[in-house]
Amino acid sequence: MRRRHLRSVLRIEALVYPRPWSLGLFVSELTLRSSRCYCVARVEGEVVAYSGLMLCDEDAHVTTIAVDPAWQRHSLGTRLLLHLAREACQRGARHLTLEVRVGNQGAQALYHRFGFVPAGIRKNYYSETNEDALVMWASDIDYPEYGARLDQLEASLP
Ligand SMILES: CC(C)(COP(=O)(O)OP(=O)(O)OC[C@H]1O[C@@H](n2cnc3c(N)ncnc32)[C@H](O)[C@@H]1OP(=O)(O)O)[C@@H](O)C(=O)NCCC(=O)NCCS
Repeated sequence: MRRRHLRSVLRIEALVYPRPWSLGLFVSELTLRSSRCYCVARVEGEVVAYSGLMLCDEDAHVTTIAVDPAWQRHSLGTRLLLHLAREACQRGARHLTLEVRVGNQGAQALYHRFGFVPAGIRKNYYSETNEDALVMWASDIDYPEYGARLDQLEASLP
């Protein structure tokens, strides 16, 4: 993800999140290159999805993932997560974590495919909508078994 992509990113952000990230927040995340990884997916040059990762020692935190509603269920979320998971491994992370709205069953199904399991609830984490967050972890991503899981996911992509 580069600054030139942010107009498209903010458009999607406003479509899919009740409290979208601001331009300033994305810009500040993009400056933290050594501890972050943000990427976009494009179709015919147009940004249609994006995702981000924050690295903290052995843990890699998925900070955001979003697909333009017009492009959902076309495996873009899977492709982006594959990229982030591989990047996390390459940068020495051993575990992946994220928060997801407890009611967001679709995203949870996607995360489950990547080996994420529920670890707890953060009450009222999404205060703008009074929703709790489910905290999920995928552990031991540095083991060959996890690499094999990613290979399998990639092989099953259309
Ligand atoms: C969640 C999100 C990123 C998924 O991206 P996507 O590109 O649509 O996901 P994929 O096409 O890779 O889906 C992979 C699998 O995840 C599951 N899945 C994804 N979205 C789903 C949904 N809405 N309902 C049920 N299952 C879903 C399915 O098992 C799917 O496989 P299938 O299509 O073969 O059945 C996308 O729906 C999105 O941007 N949502 C709004 C923002 C959001 O909720 N972000 C997550 C915040 S934690």
